[in-house]
Amino acid sequence: MRIGILGSGDVAKALAAGFLKRGDDVMLGTRDPEKLAAWKAAAGDRAAVGSSERTAEFGEILVLATHGMATLEVIESLDEGAFAGKVVIDATNPIRNDVEGPRLAIGFDDSLGERIQRAVRRARVVKAFNTVGAPEMVSPQFADGQPTMFVAGDDDSAKDEVKLILRDFGWGTADLGGIEASRYMEPMCMTWVTYGLRSGTWHHAFKLLTK
Ligand SMILES: NC(=O)c1ccc[n+]([C@@H]2O[C@H](COP(=O)([O-])OP(=O)(O)OC[C@H]3O[C@@H](n4cnc5c(N)ncnc54)[C@H](OP(=O)(O)O)[C@@H]3O)[C@@H](O)[C@H]2O)c1
Repeated sequence: MRIGILGSGDVAKALAAGFLKRGDDVMLGTRDPEKLAAWKAAAGDRAAVGSSERTAEFGEILVLATHGMATLEVIESLDEGAFAGKVVIDATNPIRNDVEGPRLAIGFDDSLGERIQRAVRRARVVKAFNTVGAPEMVSPQFADGQPTMFVAGDDDSAKDEVKLILRDFGWGTADLGGIEASRYMEPMCMTWVTYGLRSGTWHHAFKLLTK
């Protein structure tokens, strides 16, 4: 499939590597394509770099891997038609960049995931990948077994597609229901970060234990 990833940071590159390994064609969308020349050269023939506009048009599936506080701005700069009917994987977290230390900008009765779904009403947004660090997003290896990726979204068929991707990437999944559950998944990222800050280690993930 053609995967359009908006963003050029660690998350965009980690997920791009996973999709390329799966045999997909990938385009990274950035404001500055030049800075990704080395990435493109190393990533091979199935990898491309483009503007956000080109990337949104290119992808049959889109991934949001932009800075959380810039994500709505990026979406609003694009033609909403480019999102229509597509699965949009939202890996973002609304981490404030105007205060010391990690803090969420949205919470309790709304979330970035919900705001994104409201901004692209005809897209099928699935929140995923936001509760683990970029290095573990593809082929996670943990001594305590396979970790769990939580997913949320209003469209069941979109979630099924994302669960297949997660399975291919090496994850177990737990479905939390509609996109509203983003308001619980985004604080989970703060749990992940807070543990990292206290322990000084950044290679951990959540696992849901069931009987
Ligand atoms: N890092 C992690 O381990 C991790 C884990 C889980 C979730 N997340 C979430 O995933 C998203 C991406 O994280 P990241 O660490 O890869 O990158 P980041 O540093 O949070 O995001 C930077 C990306 O956002 C793009 N962007 C577009 N417009 C922007 C603007 N106005 N201001 C700033 N950046 C803008 C930049 O693209 P260009 O400059 O190329 O246009 C760049 O690729 C974030 O929402 C983050 O909270 C991160």
